[in-house]
Amino acid sequence: MNKVDVVLGSFYGDEGKGKIIDYLSQKADISVRCTGGNNAGHTIEIDGKKFAFHLIPSGILNKGTIAVIGNGVVIDPKVLIQEIGNVKENGYSVEGLRISDKAHVIFPYHIQMDKLQEESRKDEKIGTTARGIGPTYCDKYERCGIRMGDLVNKRFENQLRINIESKNKIFQMYNYELINADEVINQYNEYAEYLKKYVVDTINLIHDAIEQDKKILCEGAQATLLDIDFGSYPFVTSSNPTIGGICTGTGIGAKYIGEVYGVLKAYSSRVGEGPYITEQDNEIGNTIRELGYEYGTTTKRPRRCGWLDLVALKYAAMINGLTGLAINHVDTIGKLDKIKLCVGYKINDKVTMDFSTDEKYLANCEPVYEEFEGNFGDISHCKTREELPDKAKVYLNRIEELVKVPIKFIGTGAGRESMIVC
Ligand code: GDP
Ligand code: IMO
Ligand code: MG
Repeated sequence: MNKVDVVLGSFYGDEGKGKIIDYLSQKADISVRCTGGNNAGHTIEIDGKKFAFHLIPSGILNKGTIAVIGNGVVIDPKVLIQEIGNVKENGYSVEGLRISDKAHVIFPYHIQMDKLQEESRKDEKIGTTARGIGPTYCDKYERCGIRMGDLVNKRFENQLRINIESKNKIFQMYNYELINADEVINQYNEYAEYLKKYVVDTINLIHDAIEQDKKILCEGAQATLLDIDFGSYPFVTSSNPTIGGICTGTGIGAKYIGEVYGVLKAYSSRVGEGPYITEQDNEIGNTIRELGYEYGTTTKRPRRCGWLDLVALKYAAMINGLTGLAINHVDTIGKLDKIKLCVGYKINDKVTMDFSTDEKYLANCEPVYEEFEGNFGDISHCKTREELPDKAKVYLNRIEELVKVPIKFIGTGAGRESMIVC
């Protein structure tokens, strides 16, 4: 490991970041969540037991790893307390948990506002996770947000009353339930009591660790095409899940970053609305969904499924400066007879590798596919890339050849041990 290594989503999320983080954090002293909130759902499977993390860094399950929720994250204290409880109930320690005093807090009015905004979008819905993520980041940038440090030091009452008063005016207009400030204050004071021992200045903590040559692993949430700047706006989340968000969400300078791993699946999926050029809204997509069990970790929504898009992957490699690829679900794609791989977009009779998130551009593009043999057979026993069947090698080699980023991890199943490290 370098001083700091990073794991990011390459497409629309749910690529299997949790699994890669779980593996890498075995060598890390600190594992950090940098952006997003409990819109994320990161799955780890250990000995057949599934863990879904929404806020706590997936590295928490590794003994001795300090798990930091960075300043760029937005935190729903209720969800966090439940998650702490789950970890403990399963016999793991949360002693290593640290929460940034600068992370912003999600309040019930954020969640209600998220729902109201989705409803008022009518046919233009984003398909948010309804966890209050967007409205909380709005408050942050409007400079009326409340941070974890304010919460646990009980310095939030005045600001909260101001916020609730103004939000209630909107709720009243739309006939939504009004928020009772006293109730929220009482409830959040209880959360503050529970969480205060975990809240620290994580920036100093991280930099002290860097100075002591400790290893830090940054856990990206969401993904490149959901980025507020680089994704398919407005069908995006409200943060920067790309490489820049890792720096601003933790206080880590770019010079410390070594490997930047882009996680993807051997096919693709998207949950929520927005353009998706290789989507297979047909039998193939349904088959992939069932084979890969593509249902949301957070919202249980069926995920839209399709072929892997190398034009989009090249874009993710460019935006994030990817140094390595982690390809999951090679076992899943290998169950199909034939596999398609998008190797270009055809526009005005020309084939290009130029990606754009512009809906009009994408509407005029037609994916150009190459076809590969599937039926890889059982690959669960493969521990090296060499051991993979030739048909799998051909598929993976083509991805590497076109994207020009080396494959570092190959997922052969959901379990912790089901991974080839190249
Ligand atoms: P994340 O949000 O990027 O961490 O991904 P999710 O946890 O939301 O979704 C990934 C899903 O794929 C989870 O159910 C994982 O257990 C599963 N998974 C990850 N890697 C593999 C793999 O290589 N093969 C199979 N079959 N399942 C995998
Ligand atoms: P992980 O970390 C997949 C999507 C939502 C919606 C859009 C905006 O598990 O990969 P939001 O609630 O963030 O305002 O919703 O972003 N979305 C995700 N999709 N995986 C995620 O996280 C996601 N986080 C947000 O479905 O389309
Ligand atoms: Mg997920």
